[in-house]
Amino acid sequence: MATIATAADAPLKDMDEWDDFLTGRYKAGKTEEEFRQYDEQATPGGAGIYRQNHKYQTFDYEKAKQKEYFGLNKGEKSIWEAAEFLNTLVDDSDPDTDLTQIEHLLQTSEAIRKDGHPRWFVLTGFIHDLGKVLCLWGEPQWGVVGDTFPVGCAYSDQIVFPEYFKANPDYNNPLYQTKYGIYEPNCGLDKVHMSFGHDGYIGEVMKNYLPEESLYMLRYHSFYAAHRHGAYRHLMSNHDVEMFEWVNKFNPYDLYSKGHTKPDLKQLKPYYDDLFAEFFPAKIAW
Ligand SMILES: [Fe+2]
Ligand SMILES: [Fe+2]
Repeated sequence: MATIATAADAPLKDMDEWDDFLTGRYKAGKTEEEFRQYDEQATPGGAGIYRQNHKYQTFDYEKAKQKEYFGLNKGEKSIWEAAEFLNTLVDDSDPDTDLTQIEHLLQTSEAIRKDGHPRWFVLTGFIHDLGKVLCLWGEPQWGVVGDTFPVGCAYSDQIVFPEYFKANPDYNNPLYQTKYGIYEPNCGLDKVHMSFGHDGYIGEVMKNYLPEESLYMLRYHSFYAAHRHGAYRHLMSNHDVEMFEWVNKFNPYDLYSKGHTKPDLKQLKPYYDDLFAEFFPAKIAW
């Protein structure tokens, strides 16, 4: 089994710590003011990953990573193979209590299924974090998880820990620090470069297979500044705003579906075999 990023600057003992940070931050019923207070008292791991993420996610970094990964040249895998591959990413310090990656995916998708949503929505729940396989290809945690945000224009103060952007080289590039930066007003998010991470990557992997609503959920599920705090409307088209209703619909399942009972993979497998066969060929490019 592989452990996650052992590099000296890796701030998290595992990636679930970031998910736990988000769950704490967006605990149901919290006010905006309480979000801020939570950020200030955040766990060192939560703050640490943002410090690096905000420092290193430049416009040029995003462009280079997009070039490296969006050609989908990492080989072919079935959905189960990708999920099992992701599952090799474990927290060695506490292997018994943490949910595996597959269990997080199943808890998300099963909560969606229980609420009677369409099958593509259930499927979206299962695949939404498969992009974290980027970690297994050597990408650092700060380049895989963490809130995403547009690069190439001014940072919103609605992004968690905005003060950390002062360490980003783009912060001193006047071209990138106006409200619109390199973009046109309401140009639409498909023209906007987002910081690189597991969201954009999985959206790219799935773009030929799933409906647009699903692709929005995948691509923007970590874009908290927009979907939770309403930032960046000046870059979004009317169509984006409509589609973000789906992103909002998805978010509670991602944040709050962590239950105490582990999903029974063996019992659930036939349902998911059918679901995958409905949308995908046997293997897809990653
Ligand atoms: Fe995610
Ligand atoms: Fe997730």
